[in-house]
Amino acid sequence: MSQQFDVVVIGAGPGGYIAAIRAAQLGFNVACIDEWKNAAGGPAPGGTCTNVGCIPSKALLQSSEHFEHANHHFAEHGITATGVKMDIAKMLARKDTVVKQNNDGILYLFKKNKVTFFHGRGSFVAAKEGAYEIKVAGKAEETISGKHVVVATGSSARVLPGTPFDEDNILSNDGALRMGAVPKKLGLIGSGVIGLEMGSVWRRLGAEVTVLEGLPTFLGAVDQQIAKEAHKAFVKQGLKIELGVKVGEIKSVKKGVTVAYTNAKGEAVSLDVDKLIISIGRVANTTGLAADAVGLQLDERGAIVVDADCKTNLPNVWAVGDVVRGPMLAHKAEEEGVAVAERIAGQHGHVNFNTIPWVIYTNPEIAWVGQTEEQLKSAGRAYKSGTFPFMANGRARALGDTTGMVKMLADASTDEILGVHIVGPMASELIAECVVAMEFRASSEDIARICHAHPSLSEATKEAALAVDKRTLNF
Ligand code: FAD
Ligand code: NAI
Repeated sequence: MSQQFDVVVIGAGPGGYIAAIRAAQLGFNVACIDEWKNAAGGPAPGGTCTNVGCIPSKALLQSSEHFEHANHHFAEHGITATGVKMDIAKMLARKDTVVKQNNDGILYLFKKNKVTFFHGRGSFVAAKEGAYEIKVAGKAEETISGKHVVVATGSSARVLPGTPFDEDNILSNDGALRMGAVPKKLGLIGSGVIGLEMGSVWRRLGAEVTVLEGLPTFLGAVDQQIAKEAHKAFVKQGLKIELGVKVGEIKSVKKGVTVAYTNAKGEAVSLDVDKLIISIGRVANTTGLAADAVGLQLDERGAIVVDADCKTNLPNVWAVGDVVRGPMLAHKAEEEGVAVAERIAGQHGHVNFNTIPWVIYTNPEIAWVGQTEEQLKSAGRAYKSGTFPFMANGRARALGDTTGMVKMLADASTDEILGVHIVGPMASELIAECVVAMEFRASSEDIARICHAHPSLSEATKEAALAVDKRTLNF
């Protein structure tokens, strides 16, 4: 007889492994299936985030930032660093170690919480007697069953039609994170989150980077005052960003890649690069699931259709994370995973989609929560705005990193904070206070009246709140 579980989770990325752990904490007998293999063919739970996403990209961003600091910023502190060299193999090995620590950490957490882990591909077989049969195709093949199923199969890089990834010359995020040498010339298609983070890594290490973006606007989803400030900083650093291009034929030759495109002026251009990263968004992973076997509904793009509570069209089948609608972010996947486990237990799991923070880990970092000025304008909402530049913040000056600002938007009559947008040092950490404030429906005056440590970057958030009421103290 097949092993029976209360909850079977397919996928052990941040959505799936967190759902499995929370369900186990709530007393369910839980299985989690994941097919990701490490270099030795063993299990590597953690999904895109751990293996080829959040974690390795942040490891490389850190290494490359140290390199840039040693080369360009130590001198102003009176530190002489000559002959600074980057050992790419060592940098990649460190990144792999960080990834493995996270893979192992998840296996440990499964053991600690008594989640049964299966290494292999999970697919639906049939719905039978109030449960779902799921085939696990790994080294061996077996069938298990679950009263509830949580699908958390994540996403993969979108392929530009006619230009498949070879991960040698034409790279997805996977290949972009394991180039064995710094390319002299690196091309990127898409100036989204991956384009900017990966472009930053390899530029800092010495590549000449050109980013080709289809849209005429830089970071269209970001508050445009913040996006403009970031664009200025990236261009100053040496990133070449071409907006409004139309990419044509891409030819991979022995020596590299040739990209034909039409620029914003309508001119035909040919760009020769050693490597090309294509980062034009991601698509849901549903092809291996055998969704048809049970009639699981997918939308026209292959994502699983869910309601606001992550319920699919099938009873007791749930889906979370990148495989469903909403932002493709690890913390959004985790929140959905927790909420689903709690709903299965009859509790009132909750995700507030209005307060999901976004962070782009470039230098300067970009982070925001809530609505942009453009969104408020188009919704016809009356708002007040306050900004404070890091140039006027003592801690930022001491750090030697004064690029950017904090911008706070609040309702014109109630003063409730509607959005906070930051470009500058440690924006990734500063945004947490703003998320808390918005969760508690704070007013800008609440932040303005809270004591913030001095000297700290967080004083810029307080000053932006004061600026909403036109009473900044330090600018
Ligand atoms: P995934 O992490 O994709 O995990 C899905 C898992 O399911 C995978 O292990 C997959 O192998 C497995 N799977 C798929 N199908 C099956 C099947 N049939 N059977 C068994 N297993 C299966 N987000 C952030 O919030 N912050 C960041 O800094 C960040 N950086 C990123 C950097 C890069 C380069 C990329 C590509 C993404 C980044 N993201 C970041 C996005 C983040 O990685 C995703 O939003 C997150 O991983 C989604 O989690 P998930 O659990 O839905 O899916
Ligand atoms: P993205 O959606 O962020 O950006 C894709 C960009 O490519 C867009 O600007 C789009 O206009 C452009 N584009 C699309 N088709 C094009 C074409 N044919 N020619 C030229 N440009 C084209 O997608 P990206 O960068 O691939 O990242 C995928 C997702 O992964 C992100 O949206 C985000 O959800 C997640 N991610 C999150 C990170 C973080 O939180 N720090 C880091 C990296 C990824």
